[in-house]
Amino acid sequence: MNLTSNIQNQKSILVTGKNGQLGQSLYKLVTQHSTSNIQHCFTFVGRDELDLADSSSIEAYFQDKRFDGIVNCAAYTAVDKAESEAELADQINHLAVKKLAEIAKQQDSALIHISTDYVFDGQGFKPYVESDAVGPQGVYGLTKLKGEQAMQAIEPKGAIIRTSWVYSEFGNNFVKTMLRLGAERDNLNVIFDQVGSPTYATDLAKCILTLLDDERFMLNETASVQHPTSNIYHYSNEGVCSWYDFAIAIFELSGTACQVNPIETKDYPTPAKRPHFSLMNKAKIKQEFGLEIPYWRDSLMDCLTQLPLASNE
Ligand SMILES: NC(=O)c1ccc[n+]([C@@H]2O[C@H](COP(=O)([O-])OP(=O)(O)OC[C@H]3O[C@@H](n4cnc5c(N)ncnc54)[C@H](OP(=O)(O)O)[C@@H]3O)[C@@H](O)[C@H]2O)c1
Repeated sequence: MNLTSNIQNQKSILVTGKNGQLGQSLYKLVTQHSTSNIQHCFTFVGRDELDLADSSSIEAYFQDKRFDGIVNCAAYTAVDKAESEAELADQINHLAVKKLAEIAKQQDSALIHISTDYVFDGQGFKPYVESDAVGPQGVYGLTKLKGEQAMQAIEPKGAIIRTSWVYSEFGNNFVKTMLRLGAERDNLNVIFDQVGSPTYATDLAKCILTLLDDERFMLNETASVQHPTSNIYHYSNEGVCSWYDFAIAIFELSGTACQVNPIETKDYPTPAKRPHFSLMNKAKIKQEFGLEIPYWRDSLMDCLTQLPLASNE
């Protein structure tokens, strides 16, 4: 899938994970002519074109291709399954990122890689800043952290954006699960002792486009120099809630009559441990790129408005 326009100074941008939530949200934005980034030439690829589970296929893909920017939206995201598929999760979330970083470095491309709040241990009490100590609690978080570290060791141009609680009108996510269950049941049990900030994938996609449009970023002139976490940024929507609050808002804003009962994490055991505290401080990305980040309930409303449109496509 290749989208071009006639405007000069366009950059060639590769987006991996085209069928994922973030990949589809980026695709939605760049095919809307109102967005400012239309001058770029985007190539969206899925695992059929670029399989991150196979390092030789990554090398083969770039043999005769070069991009000004690579946005890595692909990942092994099955948090619980990762506990029993550690090798595959490591290949996709760590070794493939290392390979992409090496290629970006060789080809002088900017790599935007997406990471997660799961790199932290979730025991914090004030919003995590980029330089806070990491301590992943499960295989998924560990493999994502190793991907970050591999990219930082290779030092291509670009950025790592850590995000949390991603939802969208595409794919599977908490919002769509709640809407489905809320239509089937009178009441639902939802965890109240894990707090964080939801992220509407469209907002994160807009943030990525802002970075790509910023010449300083593409030339690697933005980050605070020579700090180990200088190319790491945190991004989620503004505000804070628990999964319980999130579920209540989903039902309120969608007009779904379903009662939500608060339960503790211990009453909903999962193979992978979840962080109790996922809140991230976004001051750095807001200051460096002049971003205004929407409040989570406003973005939830936007997504709910988009959902019927997406399901009609
Ligand atoms: N979802 C969240 O709550 C959350 C929270 C924090 C951080 N993140 C991070 O945000 C980023 C985007 O997440 P998302 O929610 O958009 O994920 P997603 O919807 O699960 O999409 C991930 C994409 O990766 C692709 N993929 C998986 N294995 C692949 C392989 N071997 N080769 C090529 N592509 C492969 C998948 O392809 P198929 O469609 O073919 O399976 C899918 O399109 C990821 O880096 C994720 O770790 C997500």
